[in-house]
Amino acid sequence: MLETNFANNLFKNPFMNASGVHCMTVEEMDQLAKSEAGAFITKSATIAQRKGNPKPRYRSLDLGSINSMGLPNEGIDYYLDYALQKQEEQDVPIFFSIAGMSPDENIQMLEKIEKSSFKGITELNLSCPNVPGKPQAAYDFEATDAILARIFAFFKKPLGIKLPPYFDLAHFDAMADVLNKYPLTYINSINSVGNGLFIDTDKEQVVIKPKNGFGGIGGEYVKPTALANVRAFYTRLNPSIQIIGTGGITSGRDAFEHLLCGASMLQVGTQLQKEGVPVFDRLSRELKEIMTEKGYDHIEQFRGKLKEM
Ligand code: SIN
Repeated sequence: MLETNFANNLFKNPFMNASGVHCMTVEEMDQLAKSEAGAFITKSATIAQRKGNPKPRYRSLDLGSINSMGLPNEGIDYYLDYALQKQEEQDVPIFFSIAGMSPDENIQMLEKIEKSSFKGITELNLSCPNVPGKPQAAYDFEATDAILARIFAFFKKPLGIKLPPYFDLAHFDAMADVLNKYPLTYINSINSVGNGLFIDTDKEQVVIKPKNGFGGIGGEYVKPTALANVRAFYTRLNPSIQIIGTGGITSGRDAFEHLLCGASMLQVGTQLQKEGVPVFDRLSRELKEIMTEKGYDHIEQFRGKLKEM
């Protein structure tokens, strides 16, 4: 009932983790691989291992989360070695996330992936809001165009990019014009809403240490923004570019809404952090219940079919 076609592969359901959550170590990724998730993605890698920002750098909130992790990761070789070995045991491809500190670092990592025997799907994260001094690359349309031109001159494996949220129709138009020039497999909308501020009123203090308390907001707070981004790109992108919907998925109903907007796969970050890997079982069950209530037996019957008034 929840089978999903994505990047020419059939996944048992559309659910997966959002990169960053439960995917830093081999142990965590193994748990995802064994879970009810339809797929999983590795933590965004840089060439060298990174410790990330000082702690506390993640806080769960009643309506979501705030984080400023700063791309802590074990370095690309750790994740690539794991993916190369694990892909032999999997019947669906692994998603592999990278987030270089510069365009050259992204190119270097993509060259390594291209030359390797990796058979999965690569996600280029152009939207991390948490590295001090590094703006979110995909807010610069010309720079995004330039890096995609460099990448597609040599990269032949499936590639998606993770985008930040946009808030203006002119920006959706401008970014869609850039993306439509390239043979992208997918976009992933959205990364966290960057540089929010959550305050502990009793202590009159911020709740995370890096960047004076500023951090990416996820969870229920961001669902309307995530849905808008999925819908805006679904109605602007070439149909060959699929969409992963990420942001505010806490229930089967949220998942249904993302699919209705046009998403094909769904990533779960904040709620996975809160609930652990059993969240995938619950979300799949709840999505099936809603579909049954509405008389749908396949996602394609309603995916993208949001009605306007
Ligand atoms: C982080 O490591 O700071 C989170 C990753 C991201 O927002 O892309």
